[in-house]
Amino acid sequence: MYDLIADQLRSAKKIVFVTGAGISQESGIPTFRGKDGLWRNYDPMKLATIDAFYDNPKLVWEWYNDRRRNIFAAEPNLGHKAIAELEEFVKVVVLTQNIDGLHQKGGSSSVLELHGSIVKIKCTVCDFKDEIFTEFSELPPLCKCGNILRPDVVWFGEGLPQDVWQEAIIHANSCDVMVIVGTSLVVSPANTLPIYAKKNNATLIEINPDETIMTSDMDSSIKSTSTVALPELVSIFKRASKM
Ligand code: APR
Repeated sequence: MYDLIADQLRSAKKIVFVTGAGISQESGIPTFRGKDGLWRNYDPMKLATIDAFYDNPKLVWEWYNDRRRNIFAAEPNLGHKAIAELEEFVKVVVLTQNIDGLHQKGGSSSVLELHGSIVKIKCTVCDFKDEIFTEFSELPPLCKCGNILRPDVVWFGEGLPQDVWQEAIIHANSCDVMVIVGTSLVVSPANTLPIYAKKNNATLIEINPDETIMTSDMDSSIKSTSTVALPELVSIFKRASKM
């Protein structure tokens, strides 16, 4: 399988990675739709919404506090580190749906967080924003203006930050290879990025132990976990550089 993609990788000028919760699963962070995805028997899809937040801000904040605790204890895995190492050989941009910051912690220098970041918070009313790396004692936390604070992440039914999304499309439209890792590709608009890349004649490579709804659209589909497959991509470049 890796021989098939070796030539495309080695001749690439720019590789864009589109990543999802699966790439952080081996760092101990549960995915959303996998068997490990429930939280206190709640479906995350039911909590990651603006309605759920206004319905019960304390419960949603308890979920996010748990996620913050989990994420702050997590370390980047071999998959995150392999993507960062590829920067030695080729231009790499990471478009991630994850809010855990593990790509940056793993050494990637060009990361777009499509759905925001777990450390970022903002006021529900005024324009206060901040980055918080500690846990909140009082839930829901209050802004100085007296209104409740919320995680600065994209919830279902909310649009992505336009500047981030526009930049992501530019990268998807200008890569030779797009590697889609650890995402079920069920959430839009992130799941349209492979379509933009394909229109630009990029080679699509999927890394996922399971089939996704777009596996049949891929040029190559590697049925593997990210900590096994991504280091293999690095060794392709290392072998080529010794030739
Ligand atoms: N390596 C690679 N892929 C894996 C691994 C692994 N070790 N473990 C699981 N996967 C795959 C699963 O097979 C699945 O296809 O990762 C994918 C995770 O899919 P989801 O749980 O749906 O996560 P994601 O695609 O990132 O969800 C997108 O939905 O809930 C919202 O905003 C949230 O960003 C999230 C978005």
